Amino acid sequence: MADHPLYFISCGPGDPDLITVGGLRAIEQSIALLAPKVYEEGFSAYLSGKEVESPFTMDHQTVVDWVDSRLKRGPVAFLLPGDFSTFSPFHSFVEHFFDRAVVIPGVSAHAAAAALLKRSWDIAGVAHTAIITSPRAITRDGRVSLREYGGEGNTLILYMLNLPIGELVTELLHAYTPETPIAILENIACPGERVTLGTLDDIEARLDGRDPFGVGSTSSEPTLALVVVGGALVSGEKPDMWDYRYEKLWKPREMK
Ligand SMILES: C[S@@+](CC[C@H](N)C(=O)[O-])C[C@H]1O[C@@H](n2cnc3c(N)ncnc32)[C@H](O)[C@@H]1O
Repeated sequence: MADHPLYFISCGPGDPDLITVGGLRAIEQSIALLAPKVYEEGFSAYLSGKEVESPFTMDHQTVVDWVDSRLKRGPVAFLLPGDFSTFSPFHSFVEHFFDRAVVIPGVSAHAAAAALLKRSWDIAGVAHTAIITSPRAITRDGRVSLREYGGEGNTLILYMLNLPIGELVTELLHAYTPETPIAILENIACPGERVTLGTLDDIEARLDGRDPFGVGSTSSEPTLALVVVGGALVSGEKPDMWDYRYEKLWKPREMK
């Protein structure tokens, strides 16, 4: 029996344009794929004639058996939301199939958010640190204290929002001033893409009673929203920061 690969393909936040060339090639080679429903729809042009199932309808052992039985016949793939590096629930399958696993990197929601806003999360003189976390923790009593991570000079990037906006702002105000910029990005690179930009002081009013996080929702559709907090959302980088790097870092080494 040939040792067919098991691909873990990071597919990006939704728009099929945001998968890598290597990811598309791996889809083409695979005979069977485990794909969340939204990716099955978005990537339908590349999936015709292939067996496709949602991994979210099976327990762990059923997924393993599903993969094992198809790997006998050819390459198999998981289509992963965003990138494997960030809040991916598929790690245990990479470990289980470690020798056959081929992980293909991609675009995380926070990378797509930066592109959408035309902002970097670190800006010289404004923010040197970007922290990716979530108020929802699977392992720490279900709750994370965001105030531990925020603060001036830190760009805080929040996935998997499970707090009403008012509670989120109250928590963030322990770490940031009320004038600190905040962006709520919904459905990045998907239908219904929407950006709400404000400050901690006024973001709740700007939402006008809308709940972008779907707190308590029982819909089978995922709620896709990302929050970014910090000065990097509005403060740009001065041109002399390029010259600083040129003089101090690149020119002395004659870097090409
Ligand atoms: C289980 S995590 C998966 C993250 C993914 N691995 C990544 O790299 O982006 C799901 C969370 O990612 C964020 N997310 C994923 N896709 C998004 C999108 N298109 N727009 C906004 N947020 C998104 C949301 O916060 C959502 O609750």
